[in-house]
Amino acid sequence: MEEIGRIFGDVGLGQFHLILTQPVERGDYLAVADEQHGQVLCQLDDLHRKSDLDVERAASLGADDGGAIHQNLLGLARILGYRDDAGIVKCPTIPFRPGARVFRAEEPLIAEVLGLRHHAATGAYVGLLRNHQLRVELDINQLVQRHVSVLAKTGGGKSYLLGVLIEELLRHKVTCVIVDPHGEYGSLRFAAEKNGGHARFGVESQGFARQVQEYSPDVQLNANAKPLTFSLRSTDPRDLLVFLGLTNVKTFLGPLKQLLDRAAATNAEFSVADLVRLAEGGEGAVAETLHERLEYLEQTKLLGPVGTSLHDLVKKGEATLLNLRGVAPDVQELVVARIASTLFENRKKDKIPPLFLVIEEAHNFAPQQGTATSSRILKNIASEGRKFGLGLCVVTQRAARIDKSVLSQCTTQLILQVTNPLDLKAIAQSIEGLTDGMTEMIQSLPVGTALVTGGGYHTPLFCEVRPRATRHGGESVPIIVA
Ligand SMILES: Nc1ncnc2c1ncn2[C@@H]1O[C@H](COP(=O)(O)OP(=O)(O)OP(=O)(O)O)[C@@H](O)[C@H]1O
Ligand SMILES: [Mg+2]
Repeated sequence: MEEIGRIFGDVGLGQFHLILTQPVERGDYLAVADEQHGQVLCQLDDLHRKSDLDVERAASLGADDGGAIHQNLLGLARILGYRDDAGIVKCPTIPFRPGARVFRAEEPLIAEVLGLRHHAATGAYVGLLRNHQLRVELDINQLVQRHVSVLAKTGGGKSYLLGVLIEELLRHKVTCVIVDPHGEYGSLRFAAEKNGGHARFGVESQGFARQVQEYSPDVQLNANAKPLTFSLRSTDPRDLLVFLGLTNVKTFLGPLKQLLDRAAATNAEFSVADLVRLAEGGEGAVAETLHERLEYLEQTKLLGPVGTSLHDLVKKGEATLLNLRGVAPDVQELVVARIASTLFENRKKDKIPPLFLVIEEAHNFAPQQGTATSSRILKNIASEGRKFGLGLCVVTQRAARIDKSVLSQCTTQLILQVTNPLDLKAIAQSIEGLTDGMTEMIQSLPVGTALVTGGGYHTPLFCEVRPRATRHGGESVPIIVA
């Protein structure tokens, strides 16, 4: 084992200071031999250089004077523990001795204490432990029974990582429904082009065309999707106003109800086309607006005599993409609200398989301030979904803007780079065991490195996300093409 330093100063039960004789990075794993329990795993949480150079001397330094400065590289390490005979992680109850030797931890110790093992049946392989060749796998049962959040600033790699997670769920035949506001996930059908990363991470490129189906309210814009239709009869007049894009309930609700009554009186199975016909020729601005919006709604085919069947929408072991590209924000909320409610009600009655519901841009569907039509049902699923085998995954670039009660129910968090102080604060408040050092590290994570908390692990881990087996659909679009 490589010795990298010695413990000095006052030594606590949770952490200790060490002087480093070898270069070690923040976040690296260390080992200290404990008299009673053998090797104990520790992690370097902070680093600084201490020197005797004062301001006056620094100001008068010549070009080659650096060698005369007395300096030490000092670190602060956190004790993660050892596994006892029963396999439980414990920390020593007597502090290490000052002067004790500190080593770079070897992979078997890291794997044993952190619990990094290959679980072919239940593990979702998301990447390798940073700077190591140890697989980080999330427990799939935990993902579906508890909930997941994926948090990062924009461009931080959320959709890429979520793609990795969905590939794993599809490999394990877990049913998924993905709310895809930008239409990015259709690329899960296609195999990625191989690069050097695939060999290092042991990933084969593979498409999932047979397990991915796509629905959209706008099939003209999203040509690969099947039409997502709701039944007109089961649509409440207020919801119908949202589908019509009419926010002024006072003005439009009465006239709309009259139209609906007239249509129902002539044909119980009336369609939007019937409503358009009835609205035609109405006098005044209100009637004209109603007619115009109904005509548009008819073109979208969003409401029909029969809605998309739930059993077409949810297929065991497959991923259903709800592609909402091009759909107005309030209609998106309503679509999410209706689908999430239907999934929850039918999951309760065990009419559909256990499933994983992913909400991209979740701050729009369950905002912390104000409400969206979908807020209430998403809060219900966050607090009760686990009892019924409905796992929720929320993805957002604004951790501070998503409903706190939803975020705090997510016991697995996948965090990529976050720099906004309000978002960092929201993350720190919702995660147990996050140290100040880790919160600082989140601000400078390179693209492709995630902090994983929960998911079956007792301590947060830094993970290099594995390359995608499928193509990534969320590439940034250059505004100026060179
Ligand atoms: N693990 C990774 N390995 C390689 N490239 C990555 C990785 N993660 C992200 N990228 C690249 O970074 C870019 C941004 O990633 P991504 O689209 O996932 O970000 P995002 O957080 O979803 O952004 P937005 O908030 O805009 O939706 C993409 O071009 C992607 O190819
Ligand atoms: Mg994205």
